[in-house]
Amino acid sequence: MQNFHSDSLNSSKILSREAYKQIDKEIQKYPVDQKKSAVIATLIIAQQEKGFITPEIEKEVAQYLEMPPIAVHEIATFYNMFDAKPKAKYKIVMCTNLPCALRNAKHAMTILSDKLGIKAGETTSDGLFSLNEGECFGACADAPVMLINNHQMHSWLNEKNIDGIIRDLTLSNKIKTSKEKN
Ligand code: FES
Repeated sequence: MQNFHSDSLNSSKILSREAYKQIDKEIQKYPVDQKKSAVIATLIIAQQEKGFITPEIEKEVAQYLEMPPIAVHEIATFYNMFDAKPKAKYKIVMCTNLPCALRNAKHAMTILSDKLGIKAGETTSDGLFSLNEGECFGACADAPVMLINNHQMHSWLNEKNIDGIIRDLTLSNKIKTSKEKN
């Protein structure tokens, strides 16, 4: 398997050697002169490791993928799955595009907002949940839908299942926190 630079990285890098090994795997999916095609996958790996994308991470990614830092910045700020600042433990994004809107996405958003005590764009005071509106996730047939932490999709939302989702996440956080303390 062709190897890129991850083996020769020094410790001054922000992303870990492990992250660079994953990035190398993504780069290998493209022609040698098209490393930049792996930019979204690279930013996802970076965010998974660091929690959010700082300007320094953007620069490091740009250098590694041999592309202009501004191009990385444009991508990191265009897609709402990337965060420039620390976010809540559970980042909820509710699709409010037309197909979801026609199936009560706004009402689901109001239920979430009332339940969490925050508006779109805000984070709960305990840092557990943030709430945002987002663009179509390509799951319109399951509308209304929301994504948690960019990975976990919940469909056909209504008051009952929203209540269950929030309760389960709160409970699972309590269990994790008490395990960490013991
Ligand atoms: S409009 Fe909501 S998933 Fe497509």
